[in-house]
Amino acid sequence: MLVDLFLYVLFSDDDVEDISSSESLQYEFVTIEVATSYFSDSNKLGQGGFGAVYKGTLQNGQEIAVKRLSRGSNQGQQEFVNEVILVAKLQHRNLVRLLGFCFEGTEKLLIYEFVPNASLDHFIFDSVKRSYLDWERRYKIIGGTARGILYLHEDSRLRIIHRDLKASNVLLDAEMNPKIADFGMARLFNLDETQGVTSRIVGTYGYMAPEYAMYGQFSVKSDVFSFGVLVLEILSGQKNHSFRNGENVEDLASFAWKNWREGTPSNVIDPILRNSSGSIHEMIRCIHIALLCVQENVANRPTMASVVLMLNSFSHTLAVPSEPAFFMRSGIGEEVWSGTDNTNSRVSDKSVNRVNSVKYSINEASLTDPYPR
Ligand SMILES: *[C@@H]1O[C@H](CO)[C@@H](O)[C@H](O)[C@H]1NC(C)=O
Ligand SMILES: *[C@@H]1O[C@H](CO)[C@@H](O)[C@H](O)[C@H]1NC(C)=O
Repeated sequence: MLVDLFLYVLFSDDDVEDISSSESLQYEFVTIEVATSYFSDSNKLGQGGFGAVYKGTLQNGQEIAVKRLSRGSNQGQQEFVNEVILVAKLQHRNLVRLLGFCFEGTEKLLIYEFVPNASLDHFIFDSVKRSYLDWERRYKIIGGTARGILYLHEDSRLRIIHRDLKASNVLLDAEMNPKIADFGMARLFNLDETQGVTSRIVGTYGYMAPEYAMYGQFSVKSDVFSFGVLVLEILSGQKNHSFRNGENVEDLASFAWKNWREGTPSNVIDPILRNSSGSIHEMIRCIHIALLCVQENVANRPTMASVVLMLNSFSHTLAVPSEPAFFMRSGIGEEVWSGTDNTNSRVSDKSVNRVNSVKYSINEASLTDPYPR
């Protein structure tokens, strides 16, 4: 640990500054205990894969969200602190800001800015609150989320692959702007981030790209896949990734793809939106972009930079999507955390069974003109 510290000091002035900034990022445990009323249940905001999250108010009145990490990692204190310093530097209007940390005894806490309007899933999957999200708001959420991921992938100092993008990790601020939560967790937990293949799979079934769920291969394109699923959920208001549609059990992506090919993409759209004044053309274009993101072939999925471009420029011609990855899943929405050696076989054998994709007849007419007039 000490050696790491020296290397930092030796290699860059920037990082010398980091060491002093680690003091300003550090909170005392007792301060956070008081702020959260001793982690009282009434202050509990939720429970994620990495631990419970509490709302707190600092003495100066600032509202915070505190993640009390429950999972052990082999990381030493200095390594953890170094990662916190790096992740705290990731600042973007579509990312939840990491304010600091606390590391005392067995307690590891991450302190974030408090984002008032809870997470996206509380709105889109709620039959009443859903109506609050008209098309204009949903489109703004899609665009902001895309820009946040693009920043993580390409524009920040670090290249961060989120690995667990989902509706509950998109928080909404007072103006309903999206802010992505839980980024950088792989770094904070030291999960082989640089290697591109991991035996520790962290994610949520239904959002995980097939190559990641089955073989532990992750890349920016596995985040693109999760983004595609998220966009389909925002458009359809459905979270059921494996719903029964007539004879077939299929997931949202397959349902969307089938309808897109058959020239009936508006079937995918939330009835509340369909009957609103929002632009159906824009909605269908978003379904199209989402279908490009969930394609089985990793190379065919666009980068987030292209996704942002497609969302911004309506004149930009979109490629024809190929078939999405299709799964039978036993544990939809279940969070996965696996760190054991036999992880991959366990995940692929039991929970995620690759099945033959349902073949749909191809309607050439719908391929050339997927948008109803
Ligand atoms: C979002 O948060 C702001 C500030 O707390 C609040 O005024 C507003 O009513 C909230 N919006 C919704 C839809 O809950
Ligand atoms: C998905 O939807 C089907 C049919 O609507 C229902 O029977 C099933 O219980 C749902 N599954 C989940 C995980 O919600």
